[in-house]
Amino acid sequence: MSNGSPTTVQLIFGDKTIILPVLSGTDGPSTLDISTLYAQTGLLTYDPGFTSTASCESAITFIDGDEGRLLYRGYLIQDLVERSDFIEVTYLLLYGELPTLSQRARLSEDVTYHTFVHEQIRSFYNGFRRDAHPMAIMVGVVGALSSFYHDSLDIKDPVQREVAALRLVGKMPTIAGMAYKYSIGQPFVYPKNDLSYSGNFLRMMFAVPSEEYIINPILERAMDRILILHADHEQNASTSTVRLAGSSGANPFACIASGIAALWGPAHGGANEAVLNMLQEIGTADRIPEFINRAKDKNDPFRLMGFGHRVYKNYDPRAKIMRETCHEVLEELGIKNDPLLKLAMELEKIALQDPYFVERKLYPNVDFYSGIIFRAMKIPVSMFTVIFAVARTVGWVAHWLEMISDPLQKIGRPRQLYRGKVERQFVPVEKRK
Ligand code: SDX
Repeated sequence: MSNGSPTTVQLIFGDKTIILPVLSGTDGPSTLDISTLYAQTGLLTYDPGFTSTASCESAITFIDGDEGRLLYRGYLIQDLVERSDFIEVTYLLLYGELPTLSQRARLSEDVTYHTFVHEQIRSFYNGFRRDAHPMAIMVGVVGALSSFYHDSLDIKDPVQREVAALRLVGKMPTIAGMAYKYSIGQPFVYPKNDLSYSGNFLRMMFAVPSEEYIINPILERAMDRILILHADHEQNASTSTVRLAGSSGANPFACIASGIAALWGPAHGGANEAVLNMLQEIGTADRIPEFINRAKDKNDPFRLMGFGHRVYKNYDPRAKIMRETCHEVLEELGIKNDPLLKLAMELEKIALQDPYFVERKLYPNVDFYSGIIFRAMKIPVSMFTVIFAVARTVGWVAHWLEMISDPLQKIGRPRQLYRGKVERQFVPVEKRK
């Protein structure tokens, strides 16, 4: 987007003056291309946490952090949640355009026919303790998929890349449902091909052989919206992990397993679980000030979970939609005055009036309300991040496909600012003090 701003930067370093190009995208901040900086000056850039770094070019998702806007392939997340569904959004993220009816039907069929997992995969679960965190199971089982599907490991073959993508999108709900069933000692539930993606997932989590499982359409729609909201989010920590793993040529199943591992952290996808645990620890509204003060205390590692974001310096648009969905789901389930929802709303109100949060532009993020919905849907806390991983697999796969198909793609290999010992002589053990 050239708005008349400079197209180069002049850098003076000692007796050197170099000119670096400024690259502009179709929206959002321009970037300073430093790819020749080291060759020209011997200087590296230093940006721990990548607070000022664009790691790649991408056309998938755009976040306007100041305005609180989120676009998948140019479409506002609000429009997609209200007017589309997860299969359509999956098509959009993977292929770049909203599908026609026939394209949607084809993708739905392809994904549906990949929901099955090889029967041998069932035996992986027996190796885990029943109380294993389901995310540990997800990391292990998804990584192990590469030992089954040898016909979709050649990342140079676009057909095999697409098959791997469809296998991952199709099998994640099945693997997730099996992880839940294993943790509660109930039998695994096979996918049913006549159900929607979200309906199938709910059934694989909650159906039991002893009775017919009736899918609640409100919960099915809520799950579909939740999956859309969590599907992608630009170059977040787990997506960047998938891209870095993929840049080495690792197979797609291993790359997605690395993304699941990165998502697990409480600063990232693990925050939804942490929010619920935090709300339960706060317990009552009169204890909110105590926790707000702890969140502000630099000597206390406690942070207000579900608040703040590296990019959003405004309300996370997903949090707004999550809050609306929360009210709808609780209403549908006849849960009046859910204490945790009331506590969350009180906490949000107090935090958003506190100068500490206002000055730092800390707002509720996608994770703040999701845990309350999941709890109302009787989804256990340990499954919250698993559901995030099921949804984000679409985004991870879309970014993996985008990166792998880039002819200029090379292995990601950052450098460092070295602060260790300079070269020194080896000391034999008898002379060491
Ligand atoms: C997700 O990247 C993505 O897009 C992620 C995600 C996605 O869809 O992929 O959106 C999903 O991960 C959402 C975020 C979920 N995490 C949480 O809710 C955990 C709580 N939030 C914080 O840990 C934090 O806000 C982060 C990790 C989300 C962002 O951290 P940053 O960008 O590194 O911000 P920072 O640590 O530099 O904070 C800036 C200031 C600091 O204070 P000062 O040093 O300026 O005095 O804000 C403070 C921080 O201490 N701060 C908080 C806070 N978040 C930031 N203080 C109290 N509570 C918080 N939650």
